[in-house]
Amino acid sequence: MLIAGNWKMNTDLAAATQLAQDVVAAVGDPGAVQVAVCPPFISLDAVFGALRGSAVKLGAQNMHAADAGAYTGEVAAPMLRSVGCDYVILGHSERRQYFGETDAGVNAKVKQALANGLIPIICVGEVLDERRAGRENEVVQTQVAGALDGVSVDDPARLVIAYEPVWAIGTGETATPAQAQDMHAFIRGLLSKRFGESFARDIHILYGGSMKPANAADLLSQTDVDGGLIGGASLKADSFAAIVQAEQGA
Ligand code: PGA
Repeated sequence: MLIAGNWKMNTDLAAATQLAQDVVAAVGDPGAVQVAVCPPFISLDAVFGALRGSAVKLGAQNMHAADAGAYTGEVAAPMLRSVGCDYVILGHSERRQYFGETDAGVNAKVKQALANGLIPIICVGEVLDERRAGRENEVVQTQVAGALDGVSVDDPARLVIAYEPVWAIGTGETATPAQAQDMHAFIRGLLSKRFGESFARDIHILYGGSMKPANAADLLSQTDVDGGLIGGASLKADSFAAIVQAEQGA
């Protein structure tokens, strides 16, 4: 069970530090639920400081696939490790949509994250037209296969998949619990074929897309929904903590 907050391009340094402190206070002891927040790059160091001594882990929202070098404006995996990141979100639909990220590019980043001890949160999900055309499984299958091409990992705790139907991200429209469950079960089946049954049973498959306190319990209680990747509702410590609590009860 993992609840991760994706703060996207929100919060300056002061606001991020404050939000991290508020999240620590609001979440308290999350018990068996793993909790992470993913602030913008410039606040990672300060947020790590604010999280110290708490159960809340740190993640980044993206990274480059190379160790270092002439890639102006980019951030490398070893840099993320050096500021205390455990997680990195990769292949988010906003990266695919606005920054031209491809499955091959995501694949290179996944390998680099794993090689550097970061846990990639790999995002997959169909757009509205693809769902309307009944192609959601095919699209997600291609994304999962592409992201994991040639990836070798035996510990399911080293990898996270997030199913985020693009039509549900930031729109207020959520997948129904049944839609989420169907896709999560499908993804688990793909992972079972790729890595074996016990790996697939233990890996975290998160749902993302307008999850909020009001719908979290219904989504998180689905058999194959192992947590959430939370955008908008992670920007308020109380609503984020309420989702963590919903997971504790799920
Ligand atoms: P949302 O974003 O919760 O604001 O829909 C989720 C995400 O994009 O990770």
